[in-house]
Amino acid sequence: MKIKSLLEQFGKDFGRYNHFVFFSLMFTFNPYLKTMIKATNINKYYGKLQVLKGVDLHIQKGEVVSIVGPSGAGKTTLLQILGTLDTQSNKNDSTLLINEEDVTKLSDNAMAKFRNCHIGFIFQFHQLLPEFTALENVCIPAFIKGTKKEEAEKRAAELLEFLGLSHRLQHKPNELSGGEQQRVAVARALVNNPSVIFADEPSGNLDSESADNLHKLFFDLRDQFGQTFVIVTHNEELANMADRKLTMVDGSITR
Ligand SMILES: Nc1ncnc2c1ncn2[C@@H]1O[C@H](COP(=O)(O)OP(=O)(O)O)[C@@H](O)[C@H]1O
Ligand SMILES: [Mg+2]
Repeated sequence: MKIKSLLEQFGKDFGRYNHFVFFSLMFTFNPYLKTMIKATNINKYYGKLQVLKGVDLHIQKGEVVSIVGPSGAGKTTLLQILGTLDTQSNKNDSTLLINEEDVTKLSDNAMAKFRNCHIGFIFQFHQLLPEFTALENVCIPAFIKGTKKEEAEKRAAELLEFLGLSHRLQHKPNELSGGEQQRVAVARALVNNPSVIFADEPSGNLDSESADNLHKLFFDLRDQFGQTFVIVTHNEELANMADRKLTMVDGSITR
């Protein structure tokens, strides 16, 4: 009897609050609403020159965020800090959480491991290793992670196939076009299934057709796999396609 009335009471309460319950559950379990990057008050000095001036940034999982701004504004510096390749000058009064991990607290070894597992980079110049084939280049981060050879090669080949490069697995970088090299670099960035990919002028060195294809690829990866991207670019079209476009001027994000 007691249980029945408790259940009835629960039913009434649930009826009254079900909107609240529904939205709470939606926010808790919707993977797209997870914060992927939380950065607050990021400062960077080179000697007396302050190149980042208290940057705050929140990026959700599955977001494609573009960063634009004049040369020298601090975009690369910011990306390198967000990507743990560099550190802010004010570690103690700033925050940097990536995928809910406080990366400012990690030792150098733990940081390298975290970077290898969670972060992918795509640079303006692909930075593939010239002596290695496309397949081998893509496998390298997986080998560093400790993935078995066959498993790494299978994943790398699948990614290269997804990127339209199945006929180029055994080619070395200098046997590939600029667009193809950059797609190999994208596969390399993806091989460990990273939480977030940082791209610094990824299409800066490509002809407009290859650039368009690369940009389309970013959005396909977001749509199919929920991949998060932070992309510094001078390409207006790419910047405007992003879910959010941030502008950086003189070390600050202005809008
Ligand atoms: N290692 C460094 N030593 C000194 N100054 C640097 C260094 N790296 C970048 N800077 C300076 O910091 C500023 C921002 O550079 P950067 O982040 O590369 O800008 P952006 O990518 O927006 O063009 C520039 O004035 C640049 O000269
Ligand atoms: Mg730059």
